Amino acid sequence: MPSDTQALGHTHGSPPVLAVRDLRTHFHTEAGIIRAVNGVDLTVREGETLAVVGESGSGKSVTGLTVMRLLGRTSARVEGGTIRFSRKSGEELDLLALPEREMQKVRGRDVAMIFQDPMSSLNPVFTVGDQIAEPIRIHEGLGRREARERALDLLRQVGISDPDGRIDAYPHQLSGGMRQRVMIAVALACDPRLLIADEPTTALDVTIQSQIVTLLKRLQTERRMAMIFVTHDLKLVGEIADRVAVMYASQVVEEGPVAEVLASPKHPYTRALLDCIPSRRDAAGNRRQLRPIPGVLPNPLSPPEGCHFHPRCVHAQPRCAGTEPVLERVSDERQTRCLPWREIAA
Ligand SMILES: Nc1ncnc2c1ncn2[C@@H]1O[C@H](COP(=O)(O)OP(=O)(O)O)[C@@H](O)[C@H]1O
Ligand code: SF4
Ligand SMILES: [Mg+2]
Repeated sequence: MPSDTQALGHTHGSPPVLAVRDLRTHFHTEAGIIRAVNGVDLTVREGETLAVVGESGSGKSVTGLTVMRLLGRTSARVEGGTIRFSRKSGEELDLLALPEREMQKVRGRDVAMIFQDPMSSLNPVFTVGDQIAEPIRIHEGLGRREARERALDLLRQVGISDPDGRIDAYPHQLSGGMRQRVMIAVALACDPRLLIADEPTTALDVTIQSQIVTLLKRLQTERRMAMIFVTHDLKLVGEIADRVAVMYASQVVEEGPVAEVLASPKHPYTRALLDCIPSRRDAAGNRRQLRPIPGVLPNPLSPPEGCHFHPRCVHAQPRCAGTEPVLERVSDERQTRCLPWREIAA
């Protein structure tokens, strides 16, 4: 059900850069239909970071890939919903309705995406300089020399030492952390209005991870970019995001300002995730990643009736197995998808 987004927009002042409503992306596989994204609502405003958090398989990446319209070669079909994007010029686009040629202009220029594994998204046969310069040449029509200058500047901005020496390197000649910095440089090359960072630090060790997060946060603030930061790490959510959307089994189950959601979650799943964070007394340097919560994610081919979370929920009531909850407004800025949230939110 569409949530009370108008009210959300007014309370925040900044206009939404991206508004995803009731999005449904389904894979038609031989084994059956996988409803990977099934009624997702997300709003990201100018200069704001929205964290999207949830266990593996909950539909985070498919949501991002649907926004980028990068699922064309799969069995995915967008079965419903809208994705509205507002350009810097103020022009409003309906991303699902754009012809592919127009979408190519949006991709990399207005909206850019960083992936978890830079090796799979950087091209091994081109130098990093060429890969950063390519979107600049395509979207802004700059010549070779100017694009190279811009690439050098971007390498500097993402903290690569000796950019003159590294601009002609191939991806395999760089460390994992440096490749991820190059990916960020490619994504930021045309100064996008929205950056979708899909678990951009998961493959990196803890020290490099925190450097990359600090870097992303700084670049996002400087450019007043909107950012969707997909992560498993709830500690990172607190550090990087203004708002958080918690996803479970292809739906957003809770959404709101980070500090409020972490301090007083309204959805039993969010609460379970928080309970899984290792305590502060764990060994120093321990990453506060999500640990498995009891039970497993439902089979994507046959999710449970009613509330998708009911087989794992400690608060489940008989009605939870028969009635599917909708995203309900908790306050001006918060929503939750739980039938008895008022009774259990102590
Ligand atoms: N190309 C694909 N074909 C079929 N199913 C897919 C494909 N990509 C993802 N899925 C399914 O969609 C669901 C959501 O996946 P995904 O968005 O990647 O999860 P997350 O990013 O939250 O870990 C999963 O059940 C996954 O198996
Ligand atoms: S609707 Fe019921 S099963 Fe679902 S989260 Fe709320 S209490 Fe738990
Ligand atoms: Mg993913």
